Amino acid sequence: MNPSDGDPTTTFGARHHLPGDLAVENVRTLAPYVPGKPIDELQRELGLTDIIKLASNENPFGASPHALAAMQRAIADTWLYPDGSGHVLKQKLAAKLGVDAAQITLGNGSNDLLVMLAEAFLAPGLEAIYSQYAFAVYPIAVQATGATGVVTPALPADSAMPLGHDLDAMARAITPRTRVVFIANPNNPTGTWVPAAQLKAFIANVPDHALVALDEAYFEYTGGLGLQDGIAWLREFPNLVVFRTFSKAYGLAGVRVGYAVSHPSVAGMLNRVRQAFNVSVVGLAGAAAALDDTDHLAAVVKLAVAERARMTERLEKAGTRVLPSAGNFLMVHVGAGAKERFDALLRRGIIVRPVGNYGLPEHLRVTLGTPEQNDRFLKAWEA
Ligand SMILES: Cc1ncc(COP(=O)(O)O)c(C=O)c1O
Repeated sequence: MNPSDGDPTTTFGARHHLPGDLAVENVRTLAPYVPGKPIDELQRELGLTDIIKLASNENPFGASPHALAAMQRAIADTWLYPDGSGHVLKQKLAAKLGVDAAQITLGNGSNDLLVMLAEAFLAPGLEAIYSQYAFAVYPIAVQATGATGVVTPALPADSAMPLGHDLDAMARAITPRTRVVFIANPNNPTGTWVPAAQLKAFIANVPDHALVALDEAYFEYTGGLGLQDGIAWLREFPNLVVFRTFSKAYGLAGVRVGYAVSHPSVAGMLNRVRQAFNVSVVGLAGAAAALDDTDHLAAVVKLAVAERARMTERLEKAGTRVLPSAGNFLMVHVGAGAKERFDALLRRGIIVRPVGNYGLPEHLRVTLGTPEQNDRFLKAWEA
């Protein structure tokens, strides 16, 4: 029996079945994160060899060659614990972003930092707000602390930003118990965003007793679409925490490096719950070198943005409804046949992402691949 199958109120005793049942109730009742299907798994299942994965919003062009070389060199040092303060990377980030190094917290991916924020600022009796269809890690991080997750309804499917964050609804949900308001801009899995001016007005009205966790995982892809640079707002809003990552545009998802930029007092609290060596020797080296290669970043972002426009146009021509996206992925509305469409793509060796776990069983999320990968996807889609 699966531990989560039981009555969630069951405590250790006569009705106890497995040691896992001893977990605290808010963890036992948690719905786990559902990752994209790994290439190896599909290989094992269908015996296919030529598989492309457009399922986890990774950067198909990969990391900067300088980052790869720096990571190769760093392998020789992997018998040592990493620099727990991440000094070199933090100094580089601070110079690039125009902030003090004391404002930066490094994470094992930005996911790690979202969990640290919840751990440091939430507890039973307190509340965190996030939108319906917001990034799936927010409810997990919040629920694991025993705090209450308050979900606000998304914008309607027929609005200009279908299924996007409704900031008015989020503002109305704030109570004296609210400690964190999570905003992904742009959001994953919808790709939608709120314009900078609207977001700034919202943050200005969030009371001092709540932090705004602004998740900018796709920041590098958003140019020209009127989104914010949250880091530029930190002086004005001491309760703002901005999250960024090396997993997307920097092409380093596999080595897990992210960062949060905040008021130094918030960084101080995040550092209290941070594992001392949470970013690896290889990750620190790769991220620092990747930051220097601005040409590589600009080139891969340019390609992804061009592919975003091309794919949207082709899909719409094929009669598929595509949500507006400021990320390196597209959310498409398929209708009742989404599962069949997903399975048909799998049989052709193409992995996309079902989003039924988000309550969107009629949609699929497609990460933008290389132009060749996207052509293969379009051919299968239009077949
Ligand atoms: C909106 C958003 N935030 C955070 C993350 C976490 O990324 P990572 O932990 O790799 O930095 C993701 C990953 O998909 C994301 O889409």
